[in-house]
Amino acid sequence: MAEPDQHQARPLGIVILAAGKGTRMRSERAKVLHHLAGQPLLTRVIQTSQRLHPSRLVVVVGHQAAAVQAACQADGVVFALQKEQRGTGDAVRAAQAPLVGFRGDVLIVSGDVPLLTTQTLARFVADHRAHQATLSVLTARPADPAQYGRVMRRADGQVVRIVEARDASARERGVREINTGIYCVAADFLFSALDRLQPTNAQGEYYLTDIVAAAVRAGLPTRAVPAPNCHEVEGVNSRQELARMETTRQEQLRRQWMDAGVTFEDAQTVYLSEEATIGPDTVVGPNTHIKGKTAIGSHCRIDGNAYIENCTIGDNVRIYFSVVLSDSQLGDDSSAGPFSHMRGGAVLAPQAEIGNFVEVKKSTIGERTKAKHLAYIGDAEIGREANIGAGTITCNYDGFRKHRTRIGDRVQVGSDTTLVAPLTVHDDAYIATATTVRQDVPAGALVFNRRQEEIREGWTAAKRDKERNKKVD
Ligand code: UD1
Ligand code: CA
Repeated sequence: MAEPDQHQARPLGIVILAAGKGTRMRSERAKVLHHLAGQPLLTRVIQTSQRLHPSRLVVVVGHQAAAVQAACQADGVVFALQKEQRGTGDAVRAAQAPLVGFRGDVLIVSGDVPLLTTQTLARFVADHRAHQATLSVLTARPADPAQYGRVMRRADGQVVRIVEARDASARERGVREINTGIYCVAADFLFSALDRLQPTNAQGEYYLTDIVAAAVRAGLPTRAVPAPNCHEVEGVNSRQELARMETTRQEQLRRQWMDAGVTFEDAQTVYLSEEATIGPDTVVGPNTHIKGKTAIGSHCRIDGNAYIENCTIGDNVRIYFSVVLSDSQLGDDSSAGPFSHMRGGAVLAPQAEIGNFVEVKKSTIGERTKAKHLAYIGDAEIGREANIGAGTITCNYDGFRKHRTRIGDRVQVGSDTTLVAPLTVHDDAYIATATTVRQDVPAGALVFNRRQEEIREGWTAAKRDKERNKKVD
């Protein structure tokens, strides 16, 4: 037998099983591609595994292999194909080719156990090595052992085998300790045991669980190790389980950001994505959705009813009640809302302000520029310290192409202005109220449409008389 420290130094390989269809999800999409906190289940398991720095990391794909592989590409990950889904034992066998020549321990995890932590896996591997085990299986004692495989132990506690719920007798189903589907196995034993599996069970599948009894029969050191808690090792098999897990993960994420100095005024109504970050002393109001790769700085205030996706938000930004902000940037000390919409690469420079019913698409609003009411700004570049009056519209689309509008520094755009792109309004120009601008405006110029209003005294009374006479007829 190897010296203990030699044993500790054995290389670690990880195999993640993700080839199953996930029938109980009743979905057209592979189970491992369903999202938890905005991220595929499998991505999370891959990231947790990568933090153990394995020398090999193999993901077994099968059902919708191409889609799973495309969505979950990551550095150092090798995908292996299980052509037909003939059970968990058959799935691990599909990882044999990429592990050829590998002499260490293989950690096997399922792609549908997303709450698993790196720490639990690291401790499990350390325990396996400290005891110089050939095979270790991680177990748990959930309140409801449901469909999980049951762990059978002898009177002295030694594990003897795992029985699937479907194959178990009533007495065996009464056992509370379950198989988490996480194993650490010496590679040479693993692949020789897999070659000897038989599909003699209720499902006619090659059960990975059967290698436990095989190791015990061969007299090899075999361990069943309880996990530190059971929620972490729960698998997702149905939409209900996915929903419960989302609740758990959202709670964990909120706790993480509260510990980092973020205030949530009504924590349970804030939804966070796995990739979102929030700076300290930022206050987040009720019903706020922070999705995708969103980074929010410190000392911001988000009143609530906000949908924020893939945005970069600086420090000390004020987001008033009710906004939709996607794929956009908000500079330090800027503000948006109430009822603002930014999308498609919109940029608010520092101290810029947009307000009620202002939509900004693929446009830059310069420093200290304001557009506070009722405007559509699309495909535009606006300089600094400009003012965009209520009812301003960039007419960026002629039915065929999008055109750009350029507005210089300190430009005053009067209320109810339409800017027909392509168009440049140079610095310090002044656009009078209710102007349709169709040509470039030189710096410092005034532009207005010649259109004199007329006043007709007594017109209303005359009109009313006329209408009243009509009704009598
Ligand atoms: C499995 C275990 C069960 C354990 C449970 C823990 C077996 C026979 N049973 O049951 O003891 O309590 O996990 O969650 O191992 N997969 C493939 N190819 C296949 C079949 C499955 O890659 O041919 C993958 C699935 O995508 C999934 C994982 O293996 O990621 C587990 O498969 P699943 O069908 O969910 O197994 P369970 O019935 O949950
Ligand atoms: Ca499962």
